[in-house]
Amino acid sequence: MAMTQRITKAVIPAAGLGTRFLPATKAMPKEMLPVVDKPAIQYVVEEAVRAGLTDVLMVTGRNKNALENHFDRVAELEATLEAKGDTVKLEKVNESTDLADMHYVRQGDPRGLGHAVLRAHMHVGDEPFAVLLGDDIIDERDVLLTRMLDEQVARDACIVALLEVDPDSIHLYGAAEVEETDDPDVVRVTGLVEKPAKEVAPSNYAVIGRYVLKPEIFEVLERTEPGKGGEIQLTDALMEMAGDVEHTGGVYGVVFRGRRYDTGDKLDYIKAVIQLAADRDDLGPELRPWLAQFAAGFDQD
Ligand code: G1P
Repeated sequence: MAMTQRITKAVIPAAGLGTRFLPATKAMPKEMLPVVDKPAIQYVVEEAVRAGLTDVLMVTGRNKNALENHFDRVAELEATLEAKGDTVKLEKVNESTDLADMHYVRQGDPRGLGHAVLRAHMHVGDEPFAVLLGDDIIDERDVLLTRMLDEQVARDACIVALLEVDPDSIHLYGAAEVEETDDPDVVRVTGLVEKPAKEVAPSNYAVIGRYVLKPEIFEVLERTEPGKGGEIQLTDALMEMAGDVEHTGGVYGVVFRGRRYDTGDKLDYIKAVIQLAADRDDLGPELRPWLAQFAAGFDQD
């Protein structure tokens, strides 16, 4: 039996301009926006590490220095906290420093998600790898990435994460055409469309921001023409892989039924902060009754 190689590399595209959050993102990357007290990007790196992906490549761009700094040492601050004997805060500082083996590559021209993934080719080489999009936070109590990694190894295919969404929201996502398999949590993806209108969407299975890909994706991305929005779409490259099962092993979807927080737009971001804070032991007990009272006030409007 051939030895299966353990997947260790995660690619996190983080070159977006974050214009939906202006002016907050004028001088600060959107990935650094705090979700409660941790930058959104740290949740994503933590998730990768929990799944055993300790080699993390971030695809960044101009204005993203704060990301590199966040995952690096900060000698002055560490020295000050050490001198004060404040080990609790020191631990918080070190949490992100010691997480993973971090690497960075710049995207230059932001020409789409497919283009960002292509920038990872040199670092990833000829191995399967995961892609995690920073806008999605998956609750650490729910399993997704580990399951996707297992399916990749078992099926020798590309794996996407699918979430059933309201048909009115499918135009915000890549939508998958699927066939059942013997496993209720896994479907075979027979087609993919990037951000279709509700009327033409093949299903209400939305691709969410986790992928486990075979290195063959790079060859396909090299020749993928700009698609929706004039961008090189990962969805289009995956569509080609799904259509050529013989050479690529095809594409499968792991259906996620757990808690996902979207930090990609303002309203969802606010909801994510509230949900995660309400669940926390240090904040929840005071926040939950306050929220209930606050919400009750709206009934009178
Ligand atoms: C990207 C992908 C899309 C996917 C989504 C998940 O879109 O192109 O297929 O459904 O991420 O969050 P974006 O949200 O970056 O526009």
